Amino acid sequence: MEDLSVAGVTEVVIGRGMPTPLLPTRPDRRRVAILTQPAVTPKALEIAASLRSEDLLAKVIGLPDREDAKTLSVAESVYEAFAKFGLSRGDTVIGVGGGTVTDLAGFVAGTWMRGVEVVHIPTTLLGAVDASIGGKSGVNLGGKNLVGVIWHPRLVVVDTDVMEALPAALLREGFAEAFKTGLVGDSELCSLLVSQGVSAPLDDVVRRAIRVKAGIVTRDEREDGERAYLNYGHTIGHAIEYASTLSHGESVGLGMIAASYISEKNHGFDGLEMVVSTIERLGLPTSVDGLDPARVLDLIGHDKKRDGEGLRMVLLREVEDPVLSHVEQSDVELGMATVGL
Ligand SMILES: NC(=O)c1ccc[n+]([C@@H]2O[C@H](COP(=O)([O-])OP(=O)(O)OC[C@H]3O[C@@H](n4cnc5c(N)ncnc54)[C@H](O)[C@@H]3O)[C@@H](O)[C@H]2O)c1
Repeated sequence: MEDLSVAGVTEVVIGRGMPTPLLPTRPDRRRVAILTQPAVTPKALEIAASLRSEDLLAKVIGLPDREDAKTLSVAESVYEAFAKFGLSRGDTVIGVGGGTVTDLAGFVAGTWMRGVEVVHIPTTLLGAVDASIGGKSGVNLGGKNLVGVIWHPRLVVVDTDVMEALPAALLREGFAEAFKTGLVGDSELCSLLVSQGVSAPLDDVVRRAIRVKAGIVTRDEREDGERAYLNYGHTIGHAIEYASTLSHGESVGLGMIAASYISEKNHGFDGLEMVVSTIERLGLPTSVDGLDPARVLDLIGHDKKRDGEGLRMVLLREVEDPVLSHVEQSDVELGMATVGL
């Protein structure tokens, strides 16, 4: 097990299996509410049983799958379950699941009684390397994540056995975000993924990606500066995701290729080929067919990273050297063309 910390608040434990006891002792903790989703309910039940054996009252609350969990009405039903269970200020909420569960768990924990302790146990690679780290939590309302709060977990436990058993499609989602993190903050993580693709050792990938994100979040919790670098590939990627049936990871992979082209053109980045071949090695698409470029451009215009002076995107001068930069529409179009748009 290796320990990392985020923003001086979160302890991150990465290892195989759950640490015993799972929760650090707190004399005022009596109850633990465990939020989970269908694919990992057995894991949540196991955790509940082990907490009960430590004389805690544990209740498992099932959430709907995927984005259906991230709504105000689900949050309301969870608050009602907390009230019935008697969850109070000194108690703990645990999120066991992918990023949708930890986002919702962080949100309800951060708002219930003005904030109770939350612990995340991510069960997807994307959850482990990204969603569970950094305190951003929330629900969707019209747009994604429009209602939320920054509420750091007290503890994040990543079980690499769970990561290794993930279906390939879920692994690719996480690898896309891990690669992004490597591009903005860890050239060795990039090298691992360049040379080994999806066979890269997950312990290393998770530890390195979390270390980068932890460092960035600790320095810039509220995204006033460098936290925005973690959006590399997301401006064009989000637009592709909304306009297509591609997954988030697939779309971000394409967004990273487009951003790398613009980085090469505007900042002399010399890693475009490396980015394309790594995306390919990770089993993610390097081009997309059948999308209307005008629609993608229009969606980019609605992206929240557009400010009054035009579009700003995260670009790379080199690996580990990101920059937030104004980009002309003609350059966005050239970037899009590199992925077939
Ligand atoms: N808070 C943040 O900083 C942050 C960062 C990135 C992403 N996110 C959020 O994370 C969410 C996406 O995360 P995700 O991809 O983990 O989504 P998810 O929670 O929807 O999980 C994806 C699917 O995997 C299943 N699943 C979970 N664990 C599994 C396991 N061990 N084995 C098999 N199946 C399993 C789930 O049931 C679900 O169907 C989005 O809502 C996104 O906005 C948040």
